[in-house]
Amino acid sequence: MKTILSVLSEKPIAVVDERIYGSFIEHLGRAVYGGIYEPGHPTADDMGFRRDVLDLIRKLNVPIVRYPGGNFVSGYNWEDGTGPKEQRPGKMELAWFSVETNQVGVDEFQEWARRANSQVMMAVNLGTRGPEEARQLVEYCNSETHTEYADRRRRNGFEKPFGIKLWCLGNEMDGPWQIGSKKPMEYARAACEAAKVMKWVDPSIELVACGSSSSSIPTFGEWERTVLRECYEHIDYLSLHSYYGNRNGDSAAFLLSSADMDRFIREVADICDEIKAEKKSDKVVNLSFDEWNVWFHSNEQDKEIPRWQVAPPLLEDVYNFEDAVVVGDLMITLLQHSDRVRIACLAQLVNVIAPIMTENSGRAWAQTIFYPFYYTSNFGRGTALPVHTDGGLFSAGTVTDAEKLNCVAVLSEDKKQMAVFIVNRTLEDSFELAVQEENWQVVRHVALENDDLKAVNTADQPDAVIPFEKDFSEGIRIAPHSWNMLLLEFSDGEAR
Ligand code: AHR
Repeated sequence: MKTILSVLSEKPIAVVDERIYGSFIEHLGRAVYGGIYEPGHPTADDMGFRRDVLDLIRKLNVPIVRYPGGNFVSGYNWEDGTGPKEQRPGKMELAWFSVETNQVGVDEFQEWARRANSQVMMAVNLGTRGPEEARQLVEYCNSETHTEYADRRRRNGFEKPFGIKLWCLGNEMDGPWQIGSKKPMEYARAACEAAKVMKWVDPSIELVACGSSSSSIPTFGEWERTVLRECYEHIDYLSLHSYYGNRNGDSAAFLLSSADMDRFIREVADICDEIKAEKKSDKVVNLSFDEWNVWFHSNEQDKEIPRWQVAPPLLEDVYNFEDAVVVGDLMITLLQHSDRVRIACLAQLVNVIAPIMTENSGRAWAQTIFYPFYYTSNFGRGTALPVHTDGGLFSAGTVTDAEKLNCVAVLSEDKKQMAVFIVNRTLEDSFELAVQEENWQVVRHVALENDDLKAVNTADQPDAVIPFEKDFSEGIRIAPHSWNMLLLEFSDGEAR
């Protein structure tokens, strides 16, 4: 019997904010040095940026890249990464116990982002620094005035402001691992005062306040309420961070990771609305899921990496096929909440828990998770629509009554094309779909399937796990534990 799939076009979720396809580059491990920047590399451009890596990133169509951290930002003096390179200080970097050479800083990064067809989402240091340094950085980046920091930018060779529009008020300030971590009210006060002066320098910027670093931290909820009560009228977004992993070797439960993301988003959105009501405000604070991914493979090996190296190979998760299915499913969940999640950042982009890996002086390749991101980012632009199937419910791990098929559709702006993203979250069930959409024809079925959940891509075998065009002439078949994209085209029944 066929499983019926229908798109609920009459109940649109939202016009997707393209910044939901953001990513993240932190000064961590080989993300910057050996990742995006390697002056001696055969593909290096005039500024030392790797062209092979830029080519892969441009394919992902990433509209924003969060920078420079992450935990790194909470001990960072942005001035160290500006001015003549030979005068920049080497620093003991306490977030990751590495040596930071400062050869890349905001000047270089904003130019790199331009070359990647992207924009910078800048984080300020609210760990060891505060509102004053934050507003100085806004002046340096965005101001046309002839004043100290804007003039410093000019002296460094940048006459025109960088025009950075999206800013994070610190990073994971609730976490004891954070340099200069804070109690809820300590952070709320610092964030509020930083937000005020940053917007006074440039009223056009948007601000993201730190939510909890995860939903399992004991202060979750109390933290959000305190921050929102203090900062509500000064901020635009509240952040969420979450990482998933098959830590117990339970693939059935791991494939349902998106149930946790779904619950987390609902809870934070509810808290935002609760404080909105409490304040009788007209303003809606939306969500920035600015760190999400699978992260666990490298946890043990990282403990063996000696401290105080430049660009050590930290957080280099090698992603397998099941990770890719989970990443695709998490993207479906973000789209299902695209009315509230306006910004999201896959953490991270190169080498560090990343879709793109490199060898120093050598090759660059796409990990398994590259592919669901690639298709969703490129075909998921437009209006998100809910999808219903009668595929049924199942339970795994601690989650009960979850949809076996998790789906969302995105209708293109010209309304001529619709992408339906489908993940079969079960290990054993397969489905034959009947797509019930009058006047819509399925023109492509792209599938990521594999019998081996642990299959990976490597430099030598970069195409071991890649999606393929699936024949649907005799029916649309959805394999167990698979990621799928159906592409539909509008046809009014007349010859084209
Ligand atoms: O993305 C890696 C780290 O995870 C980030 O630096 C931090 O914000 C989070 O804990």
